[in-house]
Amino acid sequence: MAADDYSIVSHADGGVTDDALSALALTCFGGYGLVAPPTPAFMEWYRMRPGMDAQYCLAAIAQAGEIASSLFVTDADLQVSGTGARAAVIDTVMTAPQHRKRGLASRLITTAADRARERGRDLMVLFTGADSGPERLYSGLGFRRVARIAVAIGSPGAAPAREGVTWRRLAEGDRVLLGGYHSTASGFRPYTPGHCSWLLRSPASYSIGVIGDPTALVGQAALVAGTVVRIEGEEREAGLVVDLLGTLDTDSVARLMGSLPVPNVVVCYDAMDTAMAAACSLAGLSVQGYDVAMALPLADRWGPSADFGTWYPLTESIIGF
Ligand SMILES: CC(C)(COP(=O)(O)OP(=O)(O)OC[C@H]1O[C@@H](n2cnc3c(N)ncnc32)[C@H](O)[C@@H]1OP(=O)(O)O)[C@@H](O)C(=O)NCCC(=O)NCCS
Repeated sequence: MAADDYSIVSHADGGVTDDALSALALTCFGGYGLVAPPTPAFMEWYRMRPGMDAQYCLAAIAQAGEIASSLFVTDADLQVSGTGARAAVIDTVMTAPQHRKRGLASRLITTAADRARERGRDLMVLFTGADSGPERLYSGLGFRRVARIAVAIGSPGAAPAREGVTWRRLAEGDRVLLGGYHSTASGFRPYTPGHCSWLLRSPASYSIGVIGDPTALVGQAALVAGTVVRIEGEEREAGLVVDLLGTLDTDSVARLMGSLPVPNVVVCYDAMDTAMAAACSLAGLSVQGYDVAMALPLADRWGPSADFGTWYPLTESIIGF
């Protein structure tokens, strides 16, 4: 089949179900490290991510009616280079093995970029494995690498647990904690009320919690997703550090990680962030690999001369999807 033998539809056009998408994701990402099992329940929740509109998400449908290729698009107003970017973040780009190398993923990405530009988005952003086939594919479509993201993994306990630190499921009252958090890095998306509501509804298989000192939560806490991910070829229980909330010194970060009640901790950070590298090392985590953040300008303001500086790893778009 040639690329023209497939029809490009939006996920809103029907037939693109949670079951079909999770089955395709399992086929395409099941063997990858650090991937949370894409169950239908997880998919249902993920598709409710604020800014992700089924109209923007695309699929290529084969003549037999099955989904051959798909991607998610999430509109997100990111802080970039100290100003605002009306970004469209893409993730979960996947093509069923029997339909690969026919230009389907490329077609979905270029179509998604055209539509994002039409609705006024000015930057397209994605995360992928460093020096991977997909990175080469995206480079060929005009994306450029804006940051190298280190993925550090370890078991808590190398750094002494901090006294009085507690772990609990994210609760309504934490909206204040999240809403008050701000990072100066490019790519940061402030926590809106809608985003907090979505996090509060995460499924049991991706249970989002807060670890911190209850008496000084602001500035002394981490948002962590408890899930099962593939580490060294095996499915293992892990805490994925989604965010470190506030200004934390190296020792505090290490001790928070050391206090996590899970056998493995996973943290992503801009490889240029020497403070995070030091904290992870102190916590006994070691860098297992690198991802990259890539950007495609949809408007002149983000052309080749734009300097993005340190990049904030949008963990929900990196790990598990
Ligand atoms: C990455 C992935 C989505 C690519 O899907 P795809 O539909 O095969 O992508 P395309 O066909 O557009 O491009 C793939 C390659 O085929 C080439 N190609 C495109 N049309 C072609 C054709 N008609 N004949 C031969 N090759 C072709 C492209 O140039 C590209 O080459 P490259 O790998 O050297 O860059 C797919 O391999 C996949 O699902 N992988 C597993 C999941 C994954 O890693 N996703 C990315 C996460 S960020």
